[in-house]
Amino acid sequence: MAKKPPTKLLIPLYSLLIITFTLCLIPSQIHSSTFEGDILSLREIKHAIDPNSIPPSSYINSWDFRVDPCEGTGSQFLGILCDLPLDNSSSRVTAIDLDGIGYEGFLTSYIGNLTELTVLNLNNNKFRGPIPETIGKLRKLTRLTISENFFTGFIPQGITQLKKLQYLDLSSNRLSGTIPNDMSGLRSLTYLSISNNNFSGRIQNLTGLWQLNTLDISFNQFYGNLPNLPMSLRNLHFSHNILSGHITPLKDLIHLKWIDISDNKFSGVIRRDVLSLKNVVHLNVSFNRFATLDVVDYSGQGQQLKLLEAQGNHLKGRLPVNLVSFTNLTILNLSNNEFHGIIPKEYGMKLRTTWRRLYLDHNFLMGNLPLEFSHIATNVRGSVANNCLKCPTNVVMCHGGQRPATECVGQHNV
Ligand SMILES: *[C@@H]1O[C@H](CO)[C@@H](O)[C@H](O)[C@H]1NC(C)=O
Ligand SMILES: *[C@@H]1O[C@H](CO)[C@@H](O)[C@H](O)[C@H]1NC(C)=O
Ligand SMILES: *[C@@H]1O[C@H](CO)[C@@H](O)[C@H](O)[C@H]1NC(C)=O
Ligand SMILES: *[C@@H]1O[C@H](CO)[C@@H](O)[C@H](O)[C@H]1NC(C)=O
Ligand SMILES: *[C@@H]1O[C@H](CO)[C@@H](O)[C@H](O)[C@H]1NC(C)=O
Ligand SMILES: *[C@@H]1O[C@H](CO)[C@@H](O)[C@H](O)[C@H]1NC(C)=O
Ligand SMILES: *[C@@H]1O[C@H](CO)[C@@H](O)[C@H](O)[C@H]1NC(C)=O
Repeated sequence: MAKKPPTKLLIPLYSLLIITFTLCLIPSQIHSSTFEGDILSLREIKHAIDPNSIPPSSYINSWDFRVDPCEGTGSQFLGILCDLPLDNSSSRVTAIDLDGIGYEGFLTSYIGNLTELTVLNLNNNKFRGPIPETIGKLRKLTRLTISENFFTGFIPQGITQLKKLQYLDLSSNRLSGTIPNDMSGLRSLTYLSISNNNFSGRIQNLTGLWQLNTLDISFNQFYGNLPNLPMSLRNLHFSHNILSGHITPLKDLIHLKWIDISDNKFSGVIRRDVLSLKNVVHLNVSFNRFATLDVVDYSGQGQQLKLLEAQGNHLKGRLPVNLVSFTNLTILNLSNNEFHGIIPKEYGMKLRTTWRRLYLDHNFLMGNLPLEFSHIATNVRGSVANNCLKCPTNVVMCHGGQRPATECVGQHNV
């Protein structure tokens, strides 16, 4: 016990000596080796966030400005990556990838000084206010994601300067205005989502985005016709806007796999050359103003279409028999339209083999139900309610009843 006090004293003294010694010999390694401007920017980023919203265990809380914040990231990822540039000058911040734990505050315009940034991810926080215009200075950015925040205002024009951007996700904020004019100049973009905001206006020609895979503009207030779109597109999410006109431009997008244009004001024909797009698996054209579903016989053409949803349109005429020629189709929803005539007996065969969902309810179909509809397998679901059918009440698909006779007047003539 008696020996302890001196030992305790000795260790700090000894450490102090070593530190002093080291300081004298190689002072540059003790001083921050990160570019001062970057440290200042990180400081300002932290400063613009409400301290009450920075939990003790968070990345930002661990940014230690008494030492070099870049050095601190050695053993553990703290939301920043730093790199030494080729010229061996001071190290620079190359990535900010924050934890999405609800930081509240603004994004400072100092962000624009981190000119070596390649990744900026602020997803799932509570940033509010505008996206600073200085973001346009981050010419090396390849990935910019600020989804699920409360950003307001316009997309800064400067974004069109970020020629290396591959992935841009501004979804689920409160942004408004239009898509900037030169967006098509972002030649490297493969993913672009601006869904769930308050954007409006027409969508301009985007053919310049020749590498774009996914375009998601859903849940906004875009209007006007379909724009020119790049051939490279695979996923097109345009639902919940006010787009109108015909869907002819889609017919040339031969790589499309997923098309959702539901809840808009498109009209005219659901074209055979859109339905015949070889790679489309999912086609949702629900809740528009289409009047015609034009289906030809696709037997042997290898269509991939699995799901066709077209409920809530003004589709007229008879149910297209040719729908049975889609070999991969399992889900079909044509409810809430104006189809009349009988249900083709071929539909019954399909219910027995490959169709798993068949909704034909709320139309003006008439006549007898094909036999197969009465004994569907337990994994098959659907409805033929609210038509003008002779529909036995004990048949599951008939549950809900049929239209009153007054609504079915004249159905026998067509
Ligand atoms: C940078 O440092 C490395 C070793 O630390 C050296 O090999 C290289 O020549 C240096 N480059 C320049 C441009 O100074
Ligand atoms: C960084 O950016 C801010 C605001 O955008 C500017 O006022 C400041 O001069 C810049 N500082 C440095 C060190 O570059
Ligand atoms: C969306 O923008 C419209 C004007 O274009 C405005 O009237 C409306 O309040 C905005 N909605 C939200 C949620 O910001
Ligand atoms: C769309 O833009 C491309 C180049 O980005 C151009 O070649 C084409 O003519 C434009 N089309 C229209 C209709 O403006
Ligand atoms: C098709 O679109 C409608 C309306 O947007 C939506 O309610 C429905 O869930 C969509 N169907 C699928 C399978 O995504
Ligand atoms: C469509 O069906 C064929 C065989 O009938 C199968 O090889 C192919 O994988 C299916 N496509 C999809 C997208 O499931
Ligand atoms: C088809 O549409 C009906 C009515 O709009 C809806 O109740 C049903 O869930 C839809 N089915 C599928 C598979 O989306």
